[in-house]
Amino acid sequence: MGRIEGKVALITGANLRDDGGNIGGVTAMLLAREGASVVVTDLPGRGADRLAAQITAQGGRALAVDLDLRDEDQCRAAVEAAVAEFGGLDILHNNGAVSPEADNDVATLERDVWDLVMDVNVRGAMLMTKHAIPHIIARGGGSVINTASITALRGDVIHTTYGVAKAALCTLGMHVASQYGGQGVRCNTICPGLTLTPAALRDLPQGLIDTMGGLTPAPALSTPEDQANVVLFLASDESRAFNGQVLTTDHGMLSQQPWVSAFLAMGSPTYGNDKPDA
Ligand SMILES: NC(=O)c1ccc[n+]([C@@H]2O[C@H](COP(=O)([O-])OP(=O)(O)OC[C@H]3O[C@@H](n4cnc5c(N)ncnc54)[C@H](O)[C@@H]3O)[C@@H](O)[C@H]2O)c1
Repeated sequence: MGRIEGKVALITGANLRDDGGNIGGVTAMLLAREGASVVVTDLPGRGADRLAAQITAQGGRALAVDLDLRDEDQCRAAVEAAVAEFGGLDILHNNGAVSPEADNDVATLERDVWDLVMDVNVRGAMLMTKHAIPHIIARGGGSVINTASITALRGDVIHTTYGVAKAALCTLGMHVASQYGGQGVRCNTICPGLTLTPAALRDLPQGLIDTMGGLTPAPALSTPEDQANVVLFLASDESRAFNGQVLTTDHGMLSQQPWVSAFLAMGSPTYGNDKPDA
């Protein structure tokens, strides 16, 4: 018996390509393996249908739905498609997002870029939650999981809107928890650090990956499976004590004071208080 046997989960921004699944795709495959029927949604042509076919081929239950998170009618229709196909909805993973290159520093930020990121990353998650909540309550409760980012918690030289939008998602989770917790709806938000999806490995400069690896107090950076495992935990009743929480899933990167890694890189330095007496 799976850890979320018989549940119905909807995941936004979930796809599968030749080189593998993104975070939503890997999460959908894991939730399906743990017994959920999964509705995988993404923009048309991104590979949600391929993901659903793969899950079905492996014995799971999956439905692919085209969804543009900017369109409230499509958000409502995706939720209704889940209910029509699988009889209800228990789990919503607000994972879909954009991070455009032109998301600059504040002084050079174009309003269109701000609006796009806010529309997809914040309003889209709010609309999905809005339309999912009545169905989750009708099942006696369930779990909404938002995927934010460590950029919600610290500043950056670029990615202004992305960071602000992800911070808003953390706060949205607290509001949803406050408003519907009494009816059994939990809402928690994860803040991944750099996660080595196939796209990240392909597109990011190796120097950036190495730098972030060097600043992370763990043997390795995060994989999509690491994030999917936390989503599974939050989706399952095992996490029922968690509501309105923000969980940093960054392998400890933000746990340290900013100078610690640089100090250690100097070669096992000490503070001097453990030196033998002169
Ligand atoms: N990979 C990382 O290092 C990392 C780090 C922190 C947070 N995250 C977050 O994790 C989540 C998944 O990221 P990923 O790395 O798998 O990247 P990704 O780009 O593959 O995932 C984002 C998904 O959102 C979809 N999307 C974009 N615009 C949309 C729209 N208008 N309507 C519907 N869907 C839309 C994309 O098609 C894509 O499938 C995102 O929320 C991202 O911000 C990723």
